[in-house]
Amino acid sequence: MRATLLALNEELIRLKASGVENVNVSDESIRTLRALAGVMSGSGAPMESAASALPVSPPSDRPVRTAAVPRPQPAPVAPAKTQPKLPAPPEVKLPSGSKQEQWDALVKLVQDDPVCKKSVRPTKQIVVGVGDLASDVFFCGEAPGAEEEVEGEPFVGPAGLLLDKMIAATGLTRESIFIGNLMNWRPQIPTPDGQEQLGNRPPTAEEMAYCLPYLKAQLEIVKPKVIVALGASAAKGLLGADRFKALGEIRGQWQEFSGTPVMVTYHPSYILRNQSHRSKRAIWEDLLLVMEKLELPISDKQRGYFLSRA
Ligand code: URA
Repeated sequence: MRATLLALNEELIRLKASGVENVNVSDESIRTLRALAGVMSGSGAPMESAASALPVSPPSDRPVRTAAVPRPQPAPVAPAKTQPKLPAPPEVKLPSGSKQEQWDALVKLVQDDPVCKKSVRPTKQIVVGVGDLASDVFFCGEAPGAEEEVEGEPFVGPAGLLLDKMIAATGLTRESIFIGNLMNWRPQIPTPDGQEQLGNRPPTAEEMAYCLPYLKAQLEIVKPKVIVALGASAAKGLLGADRFKALGEIRGQWQEFSGTPVMVTYHPSYILRNQSHRSKRAIWEDLLLVMEKLELPISDKQRGYFLSRA
């Protein structure tokens, strides 16, 4: 918890240093921070009050991995002005064979890609998707973050914990779906020698274009019935910048990527930063549409979950 508050403090210092003078903080976030501070000092708000601020409680009875308290997520920072120029995107040709054989070949291609290798810091990992290669649904995020580049797996940090809850709320499990990212590496922000990168930045258009063939190959192997694009970068990468409008404008409506229906919705990190009832409800509505498309059973409790709350 101390680390959480320190990370938040560092982010505020960073924002201030970059000229930001005011930060909008919702009442809900203030309550969460108060609860965190109370838990830390051993006085005031009990643990429950911090935990109750966690977003998207799953209506299902399935066990889910939970975070003890919500971790405030640093806001993404703008891409550095001078990114190294990348070569043309790779041409990926999958070998014929079973899904698993194709997958193994693809993983090797990505792991051996000199640009991917050069784009991760020495002790960190390139990240490819994970899950059921025969899944009907492919959740696509933006890029690995701090935890993902250590584990070498998508969505294993705070955003992943929330994604797990979202998935569990639909009655699916992390193992039964496929989770990938637009990017195979964490977009780097230069740090002083030997220091860890604290925040994340969105990938540049060039970085996204470079990794897109690898995402397309993952989709070609899994052949999902539905893609869920999490956040603006995933949506832009899949739909193209010209088809992408504001996320609020295209979410909740079916789009298409190479013949596969795409539902664009908010990224779990956005929900971690904006724990408003409205954004949580919007995500849930989008997931209900995905469930309908997949012909998954939807209980009254699931359908009315956010309707019953003010
Ligand atoms: N955010 C993403 O978009 N992908 C991850 O894997 C983790 C966080």
